[in-house]
Amino acid sequence: MSGPADKSWSKAVSGFTPAAGGGREVHDEEPLLFEAEGAYYDGASARSGVDLPAPPKIADRLGGLRRQGKIGLPGLSEPQIVRHYTRLSQKNYSIDTGIYPLGSCTMKYNPRLNEKVARLPGFASLHPLQPLATVQGALALMDRLAIWLKTIAGMPALALSPAAGAHGEICGMMCIRAALEAHGDKRSRVLVPESAHGTNPATAATLGYQVDPIPANARGRVDLAALKAKLGADVAAIMLTNPNTCGLFEDESLAIAEAVHGVGAFFYLDGANLNALLGRVQPGKLGIDCMHMNLHKTFSTPHGGGGPGSGPVALAASLAPYAPLPWVVHHEQSFALIEERAGDAAQSLGRIKAFHGQMGMFIRALAFLMAHGGDGLARLSGDAVLNANYLLASLKDVLTPSFAGSAMHEVLFDDRFLGETGVTTLDFAKALIDEGYHPMTMYFPLIVHGALLVEPTENESKESLDRFIVAMRELAARAKQHDTEFFQAAPHRAPRRRLDEVAAARKPVLRWRPDAKPTAAE
Ligand SMILES: Cc1ncc(COP(=O)(O)O)c(C=O)c1O
Repeated sequence: MSGPADKSWSKAVSGFTPAAGGGREVHDEEPLLFEAEGAYYDGASARSGVDLPAPPKIADRLGGLRRQGKIGLPGLSEPQIVRHYTRLSQKNYSIDTGIYPLGSCTMKYNPRLNEKVARLPGFASLHPLQPLATVQGALALMDRLAIWLKTIAGMPALALSPAAGAHGEICGMMCIRAALEAHGDKRSRVLVPESAHGTNPATAATLGYQVDPIPANARGRVDLAALKAKLGADVAAIMLTNPNTCGLFEDESLAIAEAVHGVGAFFYLDGANLNALLGRVQPGKLGIDCMHMNLHKTFSTPHGGGGPGSGPVALAASLAPYAPLPWVVHHEQSFALIEERAGDAAQSLGRIKAFHGQMGMFIRALAFLMAHGGDGLARLSGDAVLNANYLLASLKDVLTPSFAGSAMHEVLFDDRFLGETGVTTLDFAKALIDEGYHPMTMYFPLIVHGALLVEPTENESKESLDRFIVAMRELAARAKQHDTEFFQAAPHRAPRRRLDEVAAARKPVLRWRPDAKPTAAE
C-alpha cells in the first residue's frame, strides 16, 4: 500500500494511545473516563450511552440555586464504558488471580457455591423491613449461624450485628464497660499487648480508655510478669489477639485469664485470626469473656477494597445481657426479633447497626460452615497452619524468621536477612510485584524491625506455595548480591511504580479537575 492510507495507518500505530484496544493496554495506564479519547467533558458530548428525549420545560422551584454552567460529565458510548471498567478490573490483583499472602488479613478464596447461595432470589431480594412472617427463613439462617459460631467459640451468647472486626471490638468492649458500670465499677485502663492487632488499642482509646501496652517476651508472646505488674483495680480489660500478629499462639492464655479475672477485669479476645484455631480450640475454654470473629476473614469473602465485613461477637453469660439488638428468639413454631430495650433486653446496648447486620455475609458464612462441617473446619485450620510452616521451613535459611519454633497460620520474618545490602523491606516487596505476586504485609507488627508477615491460608496447593518460595528465594539471593539498584527501582513492570505513599494516604486526590496536574500521590 502507498499514499495517504499508508501514512494514517503508521500514525495510528506510532501514536498508540493507552486504552486503544488490542490487549496491550492491560499493562498500561488507564485514563480516567473524563480523560478518555473523545470524552468532551465540557458537556458538548457527541456520544452517549442512552438517548433520552429532552425533558419538558417546567418552571423550576430552585430559586437562585439552579446550576449555571455545564455539568461537566464525559460523554461516552456504552462499549467505551464497559471496556474502561473491564480493563480496570483486569488490573486488580485478587485471590482469584493468585496467592495473596497479606499477613493478618486471611485473604481466602471465596467458594463459588457461597456466592450462588447468597444470590438465591429468596435471600437476595429480602428487605429488612418485611413483616417477620415473610422472613422466617432468614431468621432461621441467622439463628443457625449463631449456633455454629457459639459452638466454635465455646461461648453461650452471640451478637451478630457488628459490621466488621473493629466494630465487633467496639461492641464487645462496650458490653464490658456496661457490665462494669452496672456494678458501679468505672475503670480507666485497658491493657494491650505489643503484638495485638492495631485496631485493639484504637478501640480502647475510642471508648475513652487509657491504653497501657504490655511488652512481648523473647518468645514473641505476652510477658506474663509484665502483665501481672500492670494489673490493678482500674483495669477494665486486656485485649489479646490470639494467635498474635507474630503468628504465634499465646500459650499462657489460661494464666493470663486467671490473673486478669483476679482483679475483676475482663478478658477480650481478638479472634479475627480464628483460621488457625477452628475446630481445634474453643476460646471460651481459655477463660475468654468476649471475642469477635471476622466472618470476612475466616469464613471466606476476603476483605479489602471496601467490601462488606461482618464481626459477630461471642459473649460469656456475664456479658450476654448487654448484647446489642436485635436478638433473634424462638417461639414455639416461629422466630421473632427482640428490637426494644425492655424485659430481658432492658440492659442491652441497643442498636449498633442499622437493621440486623450484613445478611449477605451471614449467608456466605453459613454456606461455608455447612459445606465444611465440624471435621472439615478442623482440617482447614490444620492446613492453614501446615502451609505457613511449609513456607517457614522452606525460607528460614534465606530469610530471617523473627522467633524460634513453629508458626500458626502466618509466619513472621524481619529484615535482618537484608543486612547491609541497602535493600529495604519495601524494596523487596515491590520486587515481588514484578514476580507476579501481591506483596506480603510489610512493617507490621511493629515489634520487629522491617517485618514481612506472610499468610498463605489453607487455600494454596503445594505447587502454588513452591512457586512462591522459588520467587522469594531468588529475590533474597539477588538482594544478598547487593543488586540494590534493581530493588530500589522495582516494580519494573507495573503501570505505576513508586508512589508517595504518605501523601497518597494523607492527601488523597479523589476528585478529577480539568486543570489539575497529576501529583506523585495520584
Ligand atoms: C487480628 C485482627 N483483628 C482485627 C481486625 C480488624 O478487622 P476489620 O478490618 O474487619 O475491622 C483484623 C483485620 O484484618 C485483624 O486481622
